[in-house]
Amino acid sequence: MEKISLDYSYALNYIEEHEIKEMGDILDNIHRELHKKISLQGEFLAWMDFPEKYNREEFNRIQEVAKKIQQDSDILIVIGVGGSYLGARGAIKMLNHSFYNLLDNEKRKTPQIYFAGHNMSPKYLNDLLEIIDGKDISLNMVSKSGNTTEPAIIFRILKNYMEEKYGKKIASERIYVTTDKEKGILKKIATKEGYETFTIPDDIGGRYSVLTAVGLLPMAVSGIDIQEIMRGAGAAQKDLENSNFKHNHAYQYAAIRNILYNKGRTIEILANYEPSMYYFGQWWKQLFGESEGKENKGIFPTIANFPTDLHSMGQYIQEGTKNIFETILHVQHMNEGVIIKKDKDNLDELNYLDGFSIKEINEKMFKASVLAHNNGGIPNLIINIPEISAYYYGYLVYFFQKACAMSACILGVNPFNQPGVEAYKQNMFALLGKKGY
Ligand code: PA5
Repeated sequence: MEKISLDYSYALNYIEEHEIKEMGDILDNIHRELHKKISLQGEFLAWMDFPEKYNREEFNRIQEVAKKIQQDSDILIVIGVGGSYLGARGAIKMLNHSFYNLLDNEKRKTPQIYFAGHNMSPKYLNDLLEIIDGKDISLNMVSKSGNTTEPAIIFRILKNYMEEKYGKKIASERIYVTTDKEKGILKKIATKEGYETFTIPDDIGGRYSVLTAVGLLPMAVSGIDIQEIMRGAGAAQKDLENSNFKHNHAYQYAAIRNILYNKGRTIEILANYEPSMYYFGQWWKQLFGESEGKENKGIFPTIANFPTDLHSMGQYIQEGTKNIFETILHVQHMNEGVIIKKDKDNLDELNYLDGFSIKEINEKMFKASVLAHNNGGIPNLIINIPEISAYYYGYLVYFFQKACAMSACILGVNPFNQPGVEAYKQNMFALLGKKGY
């Protein structure tokens, strides 16, 4: 199998050879520390060998439950926020039909999938309730802590909806919970109500949990081959075990983004040329944003869809403040798509494209903007992804997780906590009159 790789040739005019050399020892030391601590409790590093060590019994149960949901449900609602939903959403969007939920049932063959609990919008919830009316529903409530307010509120509402619709017993057979093995309110509810439950391992934090039941159950319900997801992640685990800059593309990415950051490149745009990668970008944004943005440090991660955003942010990238670098998700092998044909009248003057496929035009746009942005003073990192598939999704997830842990450690912050997220919660609880928080 081809590997995912990093091409940093379009960043070389912004970094010095000695800066890369200096990173060598830093990478080596951090690598040794991370690998030494993998099996220690409380280090939140269990994601590192998870593709090899994951619980096969639970994995089989995920597949069985996914089949049941496919058979008895028109709709699966996944309730969760942050790391408890973005990875699944990214995979479902990237690996399925672009208009998955809109396909005819006979074509899609699997339930529609909607996400909830990531906003507090009355409009969104009312619209969702309208969409699910009269349909057979299953719920997957995902929360590691089991007490995150936004998903907990939506779960209460939808749990009541299910119990009114089906009665308590049948509802309990349609509600699936993914949470901690023993801690938290959600675990208590699941045990009391008899819900089928999946476990998020202790030493895997929210944003590193997409390869557990958190991501795998919704993916499997949508028909994604989760064996392939784990096979890809397993290959990445092996490929990225090397501490040497030259042989580890995730570490190259981590090191170079830190070199760029130290030179004032404080914003990273993760750009794609495939709109189906939009939610994967959202997952990446959370992974890096929440892992690195602390102690008044960190690169601000943001995402762009090209060419769409070339017509909104292209001007800024080309000629605005030079505090940006771009990382491009470049898919190498894609279906050619529609071929442009010669038009007799050529009123639109596009006959120069005679014989070009949509894929070729997309590729030329990619090359054109890398060159333009690079000439305009923007370092470009290109992540080459052989193709869009479950295997490479798993690979990519592991690649970025390993890169993120390394990058945050180079920056000197803890990649696995998120103390800053608490501040708004304290204010919200005060405003909502919660007692004893
Ligand atoms: O990465 C994290 O830990 C967070 O983003 C969590 O995933 C998010 O806050 C949701 O938390 P929980 O799964 O406990 O509901």
